[in-house]
Amino acid sequence: MFTITENNQLTRIKLYIEELFRKDASGHDFEHMKRVAKLAKEIAIDEGADVFITEAAAWLHDVGDYKLFDDPDRALQELSSFLQSLSLTDREINDIENIITKISFSKGNIPETLEGKIVQDADRIDAIGAIGIARTFAFGGAAGQLIYHEKNKNTSIQHFYDKLLTLAELMHTEKGREIAKERHHFMEEFLEQFFTEWDV
Ligand code: ADP
Ligand code: NI
Repeated sequence: MFTITENNQLTRIKLYIEELFRKDASGHDFEHMKRVAKLAKEIAIDEGADVFITEAAAWLHDVGDYKLFDDPDRALQELSSFLQSLSLTDREINDIENIITKISFSKGNIPETLEGKIVQDADRIDAIGAIGIARTFAFGGAAGQLIYHEKNKNTSIQHFYDKLLTLAELMHTEKGREIAKERHHFMEEFLEQFFTEWDV
């Protein structure tokens, strides 16, 4: 599917990400990047999108996220130099960087390109379902946030209602919608069970 050069470039991107996110315990670890890259690739093939740009941007999508980096601008500048060192074309660098800066759900942007929309779908899919549930409590714990409290709106359970239960409807692609639907249902069941056990 990829040329030898593209395969080498993706290998180096993967190593770069492994180094950057090795120590994360907020649900944005290397395994998150790996799942998003895999999901994005699958959707890109299904949609007939540019698979190389999609996979590269998926690996890199959380670089420069203000929640994860003390100095996001610097992280993005370093990423730029790294991409230059891979001998990608200016157009490829531009496409990848455009997707990364538009992607975060927290930033509320919708990427213009199909490849960007696919990375956003894949990132959102990894925020829902069983994995999404695990990541939410990992993030909440890392942030010192309560699991749940009837009078406190700053809890991990509240995050389901604020964000996670809205994501399935925001999918851009057919395949994304299909995967999200099942995961959405699983979260609803989890919440139902959670409240049954909470009021034991
Ligand atoms: P992105 O990966 O696009 O940057 P977020 O950073 O908003 O998206 O979310 C990443 C992960 O962190 C998700 O799994 C999400 O559930 C979790 N998360 C983000 N904000 C909160 C919060 N306030 N409470 C619990 N989990 C959160
Ligand atoms: Ni992400």
